[in-house]
Amino acid sequence: MPVPDDPTRPLEPNPEALRQLIDACAAFVLEHVESLPAQPSFDVDGAAEVAASFREDVPETGHRIGSILGRLRPAVSKTFTTAGPGYLAFIPGGGIVAAGLADFIACAVNRFVGVAAASPALAQIEATVVGWLSSLMGYPAGASGILTSGGSISNLTAVATARIAKLPEDFLSGTLYFSEETHLSLVKAARIAGFSERNLRWIPVDERFRLIPERLEDAIRADRSRGLRPFFVVANVGTTNTGAVDPIPDILEIAGRHDLWVHADAAYGGFFRLVPGGEKLMPGVERCDSITLDPHKGLFLPYGTGCLLVQDPEALRRAHQGAAGYLQDVAAELGQVNFTDISPELSRDFRGLRVWLPIQLHGLNAFREQLQEKLALTQWASRELQEDPLFHVLDEPQLSIVAFTAAPRQGDPDAIGAEILRRVNARKRVFLSSTTLRGRYVLRICVLSFRTHHDRVKDAVTGLKEEARRVEA
Ligand SMILES: Cc1ncc(COP(=O)(O)O)c(C=O)c1O
Repeated sequence: MPVPDDPTRPLEPNPEALRQLIDACAAFVLEHVESLPAQPSFDVDGAAEVAASFREDVPETGHRIGSILGRLRPAVSKTFTTAGPGYLAFIPGGGIVAAGLADFIACAVNRFVGVAAASPALAQIEATVVGWLSSLMGYPAGASGILTSGGSISNLTAVATARIAKLPEDFLSGTLYFSEETHLSLVKAARIAGFSERNLRWIPVDERFRLIPERLEDAIRADRSRGLRPFFVVANVGTTNTGAVDPIPDILEIAGRHDLWVHADAAYGGFFRLVPGGEKLMPGVERCDSITLDPHKGLFLPYGTGCLLVQDPEALRRAHQGAAGYLQDVAAELGQVNFTDISPELSRDFRGLRVWLPIQLHGLNAFREQLQEKLALTQWASRELQEDPLFHVLDEPQLSIVAFTAAPRQGDPDAIGAEILRRVNARKRVFLSSTTLRGRYVLRICVLSFRTHHDRVKDAVTGLKEEARRVEA
């Protein structure tokens, strides 16, 4: 093929063209962030048509950035406004903009952090971030961990690591113990790690939705007497439905007697340990063998930022390390960690910067204050709903979730609850979600975004009270 004399290289824009691209994207982001408080809490009217407009052939020639961003604008707006202050559904995150800047830098410099030799200081930044998270959870200095894409992958890594640490190669006699409120991702994790439903045990919860330790011990004993090998138990640190925190010290004690790996699923709740006195919210988490944390929840970072912490670095290494001739030039030196040796990934994005840069920029205290505010707002919302005869709050909030049912004077509380939720959401100031608990339709308020403050939680509570009365009328 002839080499052209005057090649144009659109993939390598000159500095001026690059600046224009960056400016256009920066303007797009600024406009979006500025408008967030005024955006509806969700807007999916016409979203199917917008989605359909993206079913397209691959373009052979490029388009202008203006027209590309013009197409993205409706794609972004026809959504649940997950980054907005009114998002109180499921488990909110937020998406601190500084993390987006970190991603911009990380993608643009595109250095390889999977092995430390390729970019020692950048790998160290990520290792430092893991070290910070580890010490915030009360882990000792020698603990290890890995940034993942989210809680589900962290939970999967925990199950795979524990399986190799605790079970023989022929592992199908292993049994895993979850409370009835354990997150679905752990079921998926067990399945992907080679276990079937036969290996799972669902332990009942008490009236506050916390695992009942005696029932755990009964189940473990029953399995052992049948020749099975109990090896893994989950301690929930903030269940998705109600934010319940399991009795970790009791679980640790039982697990210690029967040699089980204790995994804390703190994907949602773990970062509340940062508030003053936060260790009392989850006593014992620092003694669990592993902890799942989701910085894209409790540290308000963008989706795609999870973490698994492990007390014993060797366990993580045994589950993942291997040798390959083509990696012989980049073996880790003493004092370095090769992330590829402790995770399933080789090439990976530089997630560390997305955590490190915002913490450097804002300081940890800013995060602590936000988390403290979320707890206070939740207590306020819970009190307001408890004082209202048209609602029944299921439990005092253990973290930042209020779970409640409608308590109408007449009619079906479940159907009325669903109607109240529909009407409150239709106001588009806040967005709430529901769940099913003990066969009942349950509404939830989950306060977790750094953009959510008293005005918005008040809107939620006022909306609920007003709509409950309208539905009654
Ligand atoms: C308790 C708990 N564990 C695990 C997960 C899964 O995390 P991710 O969505 O980051 O995969 C969630 C998600 O909400 C969760 O609430």
